[in-house]
Amino acid sequence: MYVKLCNFGKYANGKSKPKQLQPDSDPWLDIHRKLRVYRIVSLVLFVICVLLLIVVLVLFMKLTGTQPCQNVEQTESSPPEQDCSLKKCHEVYQLPQRLCRDCGKGWLRFENTCYFLSQTRFSWQQSREECQRMGGDLAVITNERVQMYLSRKGSLHYWIGLSHLGTNEWTWINNTALTVRYWGNLSFPGECAILAGNEPPERSWHPSSCSLYLQYICQKM
Ligand SMILES: *[C@@H]1O[C@H](CO)[C@@H](O)[C@H](O)[C@H]1NC(C)=O
Ligand SMILES: *[C@@H]1O[C@H](CO)[C@@H](O)[C@H](O)[C@H]1NC(C)=O
Repeated sequence: MYVKLCNFGKYANGKSKPKQLQPDSDPWLDIHRKLRVYRIVSLVLFVICVLLLIVVLVLFMKLTGTQPCQNVEQTESSPPEQDCSLKKCHEVYQLPQRLCRDCGKGWLRFENTCYFLSQTRFSWQQSREECQRMGGDLAVITNERVQMYLSRKGSLHYWIGLSHLGTNEWTWINNTALTVRYWGNLSFPGECAILAGNEPPERSWHPSSCSLYLQYICQKM
């Protein structure tokens, strides 16, 4: 288009016609052809850019969508939040008194609960104190999904919040009833329970001596 206008201008100015039409040697045609090539190249690059932008956006949405978001700081007036969705998170973000934060560095989130699988080792009691120091307590496993999840995440031996210290019965630290049981060999000696992440999750709990130094699993809401 540009080239044609220029040519037209030339003729209108009364200057001589371009040299004998030799398509291969005509500089205007040459430029025209180059412009076409450049235009196609830019178009292709533009399309690639748009595609990349879409990929980036999709990834961004996916990542932020699955990010833990629902650990809400409780105030006296606010009821506990139950579900964790991005929408919910945004709703919460807009409320000034509430903060939407994730479980914290090193913690895992599963079904609205935060879990921490330690690297360091302590006795059962010390592990409990460590968990409490981090705002939680040893893990209480009340269904198969949590048992499977924790077994998948950990490959070591971890203290969980189950013991029969001072009682004859195995009791969870929050006194919740022992509904599911994944005992392996219950005749091991010891009054505190471990979850052995390297054993089949259906039977990975074992009694262990509470004074052993082992990794532990903390839990907080
Ligand atoms: C104990 O912890 C489990 C797992 O988090 C929870 O489902 C249960 O409601 C708790 N029980 C009590 C009495 O707090
Ligand atoms: C369970 O542990 C006890 C004591 O360590 C051992 O004698 C017994 O053979 C074990 N039983 C099984 C089924 O592994």
